[in-house]
Amino acid sequence: MVKLTAEMKEDIKSVGVLPLATATKSGVPNVVPIAILEIDDSDEKDDYINIMNNFFLKTLNNIKENPLVALYFWTPETVGCNQIKGEVVEITNKGSVYEDFAARVRPEKPDLPLIEVIRVKVTEVFDCQLGKEAGKKKL
Ligand SMILES: Cc1cc2nc3c(=O)[nH]c(=O)nc-3n(C[C@H](O)[C@H](O)[C@H](O)COP(=O)(O)O)c2cc1C
Repeated sequence: MVKLTAEMKEDIKSVGVLPLATATKSGVPNVVPIAILEIDDSDEKDDYINIMNNFFLKTLNNIKENPLVALYFWTPETVGCNQIKGEVVEITNKGSVYEDFAARVRPEKPDLPLIEVIRVKVTEVFDCQLGKEAGKKKL
């Protein structure tokens, strides 16, 4: 059960592009930039990061065979550097999660395919800022 802090949510919103790491079942890693994502903090217990699949290839193959993902967010403007571990709990192109997200993206990016939403449950957050707390678990 992990709820991101207000500061973490502000940092995620401010960074623009985040690296998303996945791996095959056998452990071959892959990392891609992602920009079309939203934080879903509507659940009482867990926070989710919803990512729009527009062009995922190896990323999608990896997620289907291994749902564990990681990402971090940092820029010179963010308060911290935080590393998130998560689990893909749903891939959907139906229902309010997909429809509402797609409706927010479509006006600004009408050329994107908006294939489906990859719903990542945040399971752990670690510090990746320089210094003595580096690598330590925060949430
Ligand atoms: C700045 C930037 C942002 C991107 N954001 C997304 C995104 O939100 N969703 C997506 O499906 N692909 C996005 N892409 C494309 C992926 O990074 C990547 O090209 C695609 O997943 C294919 O790589 P893969 O085979 O490793 O999955 C983005 C690319 C760039 C350069």
